[in-house]
Amino acid sequence: MTETKILHASIENILDCVEYLKNGDVVGIPTETVYGLAADAFNADAVAKIFKIKGRPSDNPLICHISDLKMLDYLTCGQDSSLFRNITQKFWPGPLTVILPKKASVLDLVSANLETVAIRFPSNAIARSLIGSFGRPLVAPSANLSGRPSPTTALHVYNDLKGRIGAILDGGECEIGLESTVIRIEGDLVEVLRPGAVSVDMLKSVAANVSLSDSVLKPNSSNCAAVSPGMKYAHYSPKAEIVLIDSSFSSFCKYVLDRTGRDVWCVVFDGEQGCFQKNVLTFGSSPASQARNVFSILRKLDEVGARKAFFRAPSKSGIGLAIYNRLLRASGFNLVVL
Ligand code: TXA
Ligand code: MG
Repeated sequence: MTETKILHASIENILDCVEYLKNGDVVGIPTETVYGLAADAFNADAVAKIFKIKGRPSDNPLICHISDLKMLDYLTCGQDSSLFRNITQKFWPGPLTVILPKKASVLDLVSANLETVAIRFPSNAIARSLIGSFGRPLVAPSANLSGRPSPTTALHVYNDLKGRIGAILDGGECEIGLESTVIRIEGDLVEVLRPGAVSVDMLKSVAANVSLSDSVLKPNSSNCAAVSPGMKYAHYSPKAEIVLIDSSFSSFCKYVLDRTGRDVWCVVFDGEQGCFQKNVLTFGSSPASQARNVFSILRKLDEVGARKAFFRAPSKSGIGLAIYNRLLRASGFNLVVL
């Protein structure tokens, strides 16, 4: 079994991780969204390790991470449209992934045999320094075991992957806490495949035509699964059964207080916990703080041994839509609207 080291993100340790990557090993890394499990995008053995370590189905493609626009040349010839330029000028570096036509040199395992490749330019200084020192794109899915909530601290990565990877660079808690917005651009249309911190309204400030994929708020049809393969799998799930309740606070309280029981928990916004005598967790007040906390809370439900948890649904505007999307999936679409 490999010993897993948690390394403070000093320059020296970043350079040690670059050596791991050059040797075909994988490393846990911080980004502004969630922690990633990074490997050399052009080393087939290293990429295969990612799928094995995470237990990830091979038909779910990976995102390639770059640290400057020149690195696009490794991956795509599709960066010429003015819409792509306007969007990336505004949101890169940052929590936005763009699906583009791939170059033939992109490994089939990376793109899951699709004609496209997902590309992200993170803003996190540690991630950028690591990719820049490595000199080529790195693939990095979220650094959780497949199906589990995404990790937002080095300790989350450690808890999921200890003994399976050599090193985790510790960059503290992730600033955003939810994975990047994933979009595809077709002509003058921008389609959001996965919502994130770059919201629909933010995209509308640079693109006239922005639509939301059906897979964001509904269980997948087979067509959605083809466009956005990751959306067809169970996701973000703690052991507890999650019930997402979209209602006013008073309706939430009444519904939950009628259904209390052993190991039944509820998760509410900050300041609302007073209505419940026990088994209550809070996950923030503002949408930004809810985004930062939601994956930790899903993990916490396992730590406290919850069997069932009633979750207060966030608003669906701005980054709230991304939180709502993750909770819908964590609950297996177990949604109650009151
Ligand atoms: O914020 C993030 O994006 C994080 C950090 C580490 O960068 N990464 C991340 O990767 O969330 P992952 O593998 O957990 O999610 C990637 C998503 C999946 O839903 C996958 O199906 C989708 O992106 N994806 C990747 N390549 C695609 C492609 N060519 N076409 C459509 N969807 C794609
Ligand atoms: Mg993931």
